[in-house]
Amino acid sequence: MLSYRRYDDPVQISEYVVSRPRYPQKVFDMILEYTKQQAIPCKSGKFPLAVDVGCGPGLMSTSFLAPHFDKVLGIDISEAQIAEANANKEYDNIEYKVAHAESMPVEDKSVTLVQVATALHWLDHEKFYRECDRVLVAGGVIAAFSHYPDIQVIDHPNKDHLTRILREIQVKITSNENPEYLLPNKYAAEYYKDPCLQIPYPDTQRYDDIFFPFHTTIAGIHRYYMTITCVRKFISSNEDRKRWWKDIFDRIMEAYRTDNSESPLTIQFKVYLLLGRKPKIILE
Ligand SMILES: C[S@@+](CC[C@H](N)C(=O)[O-])C[C@H]1O[C@@H](n2cnc3c(N)ncnc32)[C@H](O)[C@@H]1O
Repeated sequence: MLSYRRYDDPVQISEYVVSRPRYPQKVFDMILEYTKQQAIPCKSGKFPLAVDVGCGPGLMSTSFLAPHFDKVLGIDISEAQIAEANANKEYDNIEYKVAHAESMPVEDKSVTLVQVATALHWLDHEKFYRECDRVLVAGGVIAAFSHYPDIQVIDHPNKDHLTRILREIQVKITSNENPEYLLPNKYAAEYYKDPCLQIPYPDTQRYDDIFFPFHTTIAGIHRYYMTITCVRKFISSNEDRKRWWKDIFDRIMEAYRTDNSESPLTIQFKVYLLLGRKPKIILE
């Protein structure tokens, strides 16, 4: 089974929770709106079961579903992520389990929503979509989304210069120079446009025009990049790269005209969202 163990380090996991941007509520509202169009709620007015695949520490994706489902199951292949998710658990109707996306620990036709946030690119897509088809009720929904820095500094008088420097990071880490930049990273950088990632149902929707501001600091940008495995490994792999990285941040401080790395900085992120619905009637 194709599997990438890239989010297993407990230090990285605690950094992840504080240094990654959070999805805007709008994304979850759009998913629920699409789900409500055909799925049937229980007497409680909620839907019976959602699975959040690749839930990671839970706070960034699973928690949003809890008010709308009787039960939410968050699954992840990483034991360390599930331990963190349990430590962060915000709702009693959430359960976290170590499990593979390609083999979910749920009954056939029992799930109304399979959500996969910032994780689809790491999965074995064919097996995952087959597994979704097994577990989803008719009219059930797959929602796959991720985010990517759109690299626009939006709150500084010298924003154009700062934007150009930050874009240099993006160019370098996605270049052939970086052996850690893997195919899944590329899928994410291309906003899930690759044909192999598309949800194999006739009723699908795609959005890639959802932008949101990530309010952080210069040091926060540094920490954000350190939560991305292909960046962290690239920079730490030799002295030239360490120097390049230090030089980039020196230039950011200079362009910002500050000597305080905790100076606030806001950059724009883009969310891309794939939605697909299991057909109600299958015509043979
Ligand atoms: C970038 S994190 C996403 C965490 C969270 N959903 C979020 O939106 O921030 C990707 C997660 O997918 C998990 N993962 C990767 N491959 C998986 C697989 N085959 N089955 C289940 N989880 C997987 C990783 O362990 C990691 O925790």
